[in-house]
Amino acid sequence: MSDKDTALRQQAMSEIVTHETTVSGDPYRLSFHHMPPVGLMNDPNGLIQWKGEYHLFYQWMPFKPDHGEKFWGHYISKDLVHWKHEEIALAPSEWYDKDGCYSGSAVSHEDTLYLFYTGNVFNDKGDQEEYQCVATSTDGVHFEKKGPVIHVPDGYTGDFRDPKVWKQEQKWYMVVGAKNQNSQGKVLMYESDDLLQWEFIGPIAGSNENRLGDFGYMWECPDVFELDGTDILLVSPQGLQPDGMKYNNTYQTGYFAGELSFTEPSLEHGAFVELDRGFEFYAPQTFIDNKGRRIMFGWMGVPEQMEQSHPTVSSKWIHCLTVPRVLEWNGEQIIQSPVPELEEMREAVLLHSEITIENDQKAIRGIEGRPIELQIDFEQLDDQFAIELFHYISFSYTKRDGTLTLSRPHLEDKSQTEFRRTVLHEELNKLHILIDTSSIEIFVNGGKEVFTSRMFPQPEDEDILFTSLGETTFSIEQWKLSGYVYE
Ligand code: FRU
Repeated sequence: MSDKDTALRQQAMSEIVTHETTVSGDPYRLSFHHMPPVGLMNDPNGLIQWKGEYHLFYQWMPFKPDHGEKFWGHYISKDLVHWKHEEIALAPSEWYDKDGCYSGSAVSHEDTLYLFYTGNVFNDKGDQEEYQCVATSTDGVHFEKKGPVIHVPDGYTGDFRDPKVWKQEQKWYMVVGAKNQNSQGKVLMYESDDLLQWEFIGPIAGSNENRLGDFGYMWECPDVFELDGTDILLVSPQGLQPDGMKYNNTYQTGYFAGELSFTEPSLEHGAFVELDRGFEFYAPQTFIDNKGRRIMFGWMGVPEQMEQSHPTVSSKWIHCLTVPRVLEWNGEQIIQSPVPELEEMREAVLLHSEITIENDQKAIRGIEGRPIELQIDFEQLDDQFAIELFHYISFSYTKRDGTLTLSRPHLEDKSQTEFRRTVLHEELNKLHILIDTSSIEIFVNGGKEVFTSRMFPQPEDEDILFTSLGETTFSIEQWKLSGYVYE
């Protein structure tokens, strides 16, 4: 390890110690979502179950609650509920990653854990250069950098990052997010026999590929995998303009479903589908675990979207990840559900069945506070149903126009009292809601739509109110949650 590497690690560790009381005293610190010990957390990286343990790395800027020269932080768990914050995995110490060890992925080969990440560099002229780099480990905690293995191909720009590697029939494949010289976002594919020598195959999807037309200037964090016989490209395109209910965040995340041909190479795909409808969701990554489940973590944030207006900034930290979610294909679309392991956090259940509210707003005895989990099953819904939490955020379904709407205050423009995200949905039968101190994840109808958002209500406000126009009858279950256990 170079002297610079050692020094950077020491500085990051002392930053944690310096601000420990400030961060842990913040009422918005999360109880069952990963957050940084100090500074900024963004994308989940290097997700893998290796030698029985789940590894979760993340983009981390320890020195300020803002973006910059990223480290890879590291959490390990045996069961997705008990987590250990590990030693720093990667620090931006070498010429090829001096301005950030950016996002990437992990694979296991011959008992060795390989991390693929992007070395980010701003050269002497201030231009961005990005390299796909490798680091390896035999104990899963200490990593040895091997340097760049892929340089940017002709016709592309310095925006060239986020390698996701997987194995298929004895060959290794990698997808990388890129911007070409005409400012079109693309996903580039590579192949390799040994994980060190990589051959460029070409773009498999992107803006102006596969009859898509213009679709953004940069595609970040691609992830390619199969779900029940369908090939999925998960990707975060930048540069889409808002289009009615679609694309209302600063940058989007979604997927294309289709069939990947390795000979062409290209992905024959259908329309882009947004994976989440809330205010904060970006740069997710998936992996397959020993049980064969496709599990995804996302970043509960969006780049350049009012980030410095989050109230946690004054407590020296910002952002968190989503809970791990299982992805499944129902024949038409991806459905998402929290991994069942999270049920271990549940305390005793509180159940109310056959509640009817008619043209009224009500509290329901004992349904309050946070962190909690709610399951609501609807028996009848005439017109409109809404749940309002902590006088801050509300979620509603309006039957006559089939709209699901999440609404909360604008983080910057306080005059905009109704800041919303809406999607059309044919019915509402079920809600599954995970509520942490400063986040909410709403799974609609078994995860056909998901709304993920941060929220910053008054910390002491515990009220949850239910409103119905016309008559709504439902049952509700609530669990108070104990939270993740950290070692
Ligand atoms: C996505 C992203 C990636 C990049 C990383 C840098 O949020 O911009 O494209 O690798 O964050 O932290």
